[in-house]
Amino acid sequence: MKVLFATFLPMHNEIRQELDSAYNRVLDKSYFIQGDECRKFEEEFAEYCGVKYCVGVATGLDALFLILKAMNIGNGDEVIVPSNTYIATALAVSYTGAKPIFVEPEIETFNINPSRIEEKITSNTKAIITVHLQGRTANMEAINVIAKKHNLKVIEDAAQAHGAKYKGKKAGSLGDAAGFSFYPGKNLGALGDGGCVTTNDKALADKVRALGNYGSDYKYHHIYKGVNSRLDEIQAAFLRVKLPNLDRWNEDRRATAKKYFEGIKIL
Ligand SMILES: Cc1ncc(COP(=O)(O)O)c(C=O)c1O
Repeated sequence: MKVLFATFLPMHNEIRQELDSAYNRVLDKSYFIQGDECRKFEEEFAEYCGVKYCVGVATGLDALFLILKAMNIGNGDEVIVPSNTYIATALAVSYTGAKPIFVEPEIETFNINPSRIEEKITSNTKAIITVHLQGRTANMEAINVIAKKHNLKVIEDAAQAHGAKYKGKKAGSLGDAAGFSFYPGKNLGALGDGGCVTTNDKALADKVRALGNYGSDYKYHHIYKGVNSRLDEIQAAFLRVKLPNLDRWNEDRRATAKKYFEGIKIL
């Protein structure tokens, strides 16, 4: 049997007509950056995650970087990150000028081991980034207790965890802020690059939005040294088509994983 590796075609064929009309809707309007599609997607994804705010950005890496910048984390600061993650988690920290401090994973989940965090905390530590690796949520209860005790921010790297739940709450709603990636292979993938930040903190959301838009809070008024990192209208329109299918697709992934677990014998 021929097994295709990570093909998106069957998934996109299911919703091809809706994708076509989303594309046509944007083309007809010809408004490509920071329009209604992005705003509506932000509202819909915030609601899906159970948070008040969502800010579209260009990539998952930018989402993490902008959260850290918005929290004023930079030179001389340290941020705890899991040693077992994709490189973007640590890169986001080092791009701010802060130092990533690595903590080894738990062997059962491959996620950050909360019992090894405190030994790495110093007077320079500002935040903990947790990663919900492959959709398995990190031990947020233990991490939030440590963070509270040491007055640290908790940032979720939820790039691999769209729709994942921890004690009934969705990834993206489990810390001070979360960064998502919409890279095409993610559970919720755009047809190109994309990302977003979710949070319940309005001031943080506003600052992330401004930082990702050249530091601008309104047109031609620049209050921060920002970057250009925005979710464009075409990708937002595609993501709006895909979001209502996310839970079903996650179920499909679980069913496929189950088949592999049952069908592959480890010798
Ligand atoms: C755990 C993790 N964090 C961050 C990222 C970065 O996302 P992006 O590729 O959209 O920048 C990824 C995705 O590749 C990831 O898997």
